[in-house]
Amino acid sequence: MRYGYFDTENDEYVIDRVDLPTSWTNYLGVEDMCAVVNHTAGGYLFYRSPEYHRITRFRGNAIPMDRPGDYVYIRDREDGDYFSISWQPVGKPLDQAKYVTRHGLSVTTYECDYKGIHATQKMSIPIGDNALIWDVNIRNDSDRVRELDVFTYAEFSFHHVPIDNQNFQMSLYCAGSDYMDGAIIYDLYYEEEGYQYFTANFEPDGYECLRDNFIGTYNTETNPRAVAEGNCTGQVLKGGNHCACLQKSLRLNPGESARLIYFLGEGALSESKEIREKYKDPEALDRAYGELKSFWKKKQEKFMVTSPEDGIDTMINTWTLYQSEINVMFSRFASFIEVGGRTGLGYRDTAQDAMTVIATNPEGCKKRIVELLRALTTSGYGIHLFEPGWFLPEEEKEKKKKPFKSPTVIPEPEGASKVHGLSDACADDALWLVPSITEYVKETGNFEFLSEHYGYADGGDGTVYDHMKRIVTFSLQQVGDNGICKGLRADWNDCLNLGGGESTLVSFLLYRALVCLSELSGFMGYEADKKNYDDELDRLRTFLNDTLWDGAWFIRGITHNGKKIGSSQNKEGRIHLESNAWAVLSGAAKEEKARITLNSIHEHLSTPYGILLNAPAYTEPDDDIGFVTRVYPGLKENSSIFSHPNPWVWSAECTMGNGDRAFEYYRSLCPYYQNDRIEIRHAEPYSYCQFISGRDHTSYGEAHHPFMTGSGGWSYFAVTHYILGIKPGFDELTVDPCIPAAWDGFSVKRNFRGDIFEINVENPAHVQKGVKEIYVDGVRTDRIACPRDGRQHSVRVVMG
Ligand code: GLC
Repeated sequence: MRYGYFDTENDEYVIDRVDLPTSWTNYLGVEDMCAVVNHTAGGYLFYRSPEYHRITRFRGNAIPMDRPGDYVYIRDREDGDYFSISWQPVGKPLDQAKYVTRHGLSVTTYECDYKGIHATQKMSIPIGDNALIWDVNIRNDSDRVRELDVFTYAEFSFHHVPIDNQNFQMSLYCAGSDYMDGAIIYDLYYEEEGYQYFTANFEPDGYECLRDNFIGTYNTETNPRAVAEGNCTGQVLKGGNHCACLQKSLRLNPGESARLIYFLGEGALSESKEIREKYKDPEALDRAYGELKSFWKKKQEKFMVTSPEDGIDTMINTWTLYQSEINVMFSRFASFIEVGGRTGLGYRDTAQDAMTVIATNPEGCKKRIVELLRALTTSGYGIHLFEPGWFLPEEEKEKKKKPFKSPTVIPEPEGASKVHGLSDACADDALWLVPSITEYVKETGNFEFLSEHYGYADGGDGTVYDHMKRIVTFSLQQVGDNGICKGLRADWNDCLNLGGGESTLVSFLLYRALVCLSELSGFMGYEADKKNYDDELDRLRTFLNDTLWDGAWFIRGITHNGKKIGSSQNKEGRIHLESNAWAVLSGAAKEEKARITLNSIHEHLSTPYGILLNAPAYTEPDDDIGFVTRVYPGLKENSSIFSHPNPWVWSAECTMGNGDRAFEYYRSLCPYYQNDRIEIRHAEPYSYCQFISGRDHTSYGEAHHPFMTGSGGWSYFAVTHYILGIKPGFDELTVDPCIPAAWDGFSVKRNFRGDIFEINVENPAHVQKGVKEIYVDGVRTDRIACPRDGRQHSVRVVMG
């Protein structure tokens, strides 16, 4: 069953059936302000931090689902009947009103046709503005004059989400509202500059600042008192709960329309005046839409693929790129799942996200990489979850001071206490950073970055290269009784701590980090380091293949009590995905073992919806193995299709030349191909989700938690770098695709270090991998150097 379609031309997903089984999300804003919105205008707005600077309130995991939001109500004065432009909150029966929602790149539009009125509400945060704009158009399609009242509604939040949800003796007495010059001003009186405004491009005919007056104590957003009765009280108050309601009365002749533009922004009266002035001429807003479009177009043009598969072109050129970029922009804690009570950066997630879109967002990825470098300890492990502000140099800290200190004393950790000890360190966290830095240098050619100095979380500083060395030194030292890397608090799998034992996955991640450092030190001419890393690699390769091999795959680890996990000897959790994917992808597994391992993954873990994280599911709690055994079978880390590691397998298959299988896996997980199976998938078909229920759960096939997942970035990386095989090197671009044999070829327009490469790959012999000939600008060559002349170059690659 389908609820909508991809409009590729306009980079939109169009939901033409709005009674979705769950919220379908979009993100507005590309700078400091962000709105998380759903398909029925539910959602919330924040400025810089969803936890410390929330602007509108949101009741997560509640019913009715995902309220409140940014609502526009239209009431007919003739009969008092009213509706909202988005289907919810009024929720007119779908056989009486028609609703459409368009989620685009940083823009969402709600459309409605009801009783001869056509209304649209286009939401966006223009570049350079700290305001969410609701661009409302109302047209009278009926053949009589219509007298309408238009009411808006958004509910202001106290800035600090935990206080807003828990400490009403404080939050209810420190925020006030006022109305001046056509603007509602919301004032967080405890804060120095704690203002927000709501205003419009017209003189309102009424306003309401008090939430409870607008809604009514026994009503809801579905039937708010003000709209039902058709009037606002025009009250303001110091203290209480506040809302943003402006009322406008319209008289529309048949065919006539009105454009009402609303601004919900950061700042006080003066800012509200500035933005009104800026958009006095609505054409200025149309130009702002154009700027947002070209913001994304520029990114899209960095890597544009045309292949035989729509599900690759649409996702890679638009939606997966978008999802990956959003993770880098807003981290992982702004969604309908994580609603702002937890912020900052998770070390491993951020390190991986920052590796995936360097081509399209070099500055954003570098910023994240630097934040992670500063959150590395001198011992070489990362601070698992941190606020980047904690580790800024003192001068920058001053500039970024938090504007608010609560009068209710909340002890804040200071200096050294923010640096947790080894007992809380995750063994994989910092290992992800080494490849991300290597990729950054390869993509940008910014080799100077390696000698830039950054601080360590626990004091002192060192070059970027020095940080990288400490990361691998730490992991080389943190080995357990069997010589495998310790799992410490946990590795990538949060729920598998092996009772504090040893982790195969970490050993393979260490191997990969050493490969990166070996290449890097070789290229930079650091001969002694290079020799050192190569010796370690030789030693490790033999050791890992001998010690960790289970017969048909690699084990997942050894618990503190010496029990093997992920072994054919186990009854449950016999085979795990992460360790096996990385055994191959890191290059550690010897060829024969790599082949057998991939076949075992295919045999035991593949499903029509993607690859299971492990199988069979654990059914009995066993704390020696870890928390994973206390997760219901088929959900999350216990034998679900956990999306994030899936692209590791696609990539691993590509290193072994299996393009057919890599694509088969891509197709099974890729949401695009599930557009017509929403009765099973539930979630949006334009975003990867954190996990899909596995075959041991009654909800098998249902996808959970969109957007904020490492599977976005990793899918983008796996397709661009491994399936299409276009990889930046230190001083070249390599093209080494691994595609389905049936493909005749594909083409990619790739911007690399300022040059534009028009790459055409031909596959006349219908192979899956292998490059026979390369031509650059018509000349046969064996490598694609980067001339850095800012010009266009044609690249012809013949597979065979
Ligand atoms: C969640 C976490 C991530 C972890 C994964 C598996 O997605 O954000 O850090 O690796 O779960 O446990």
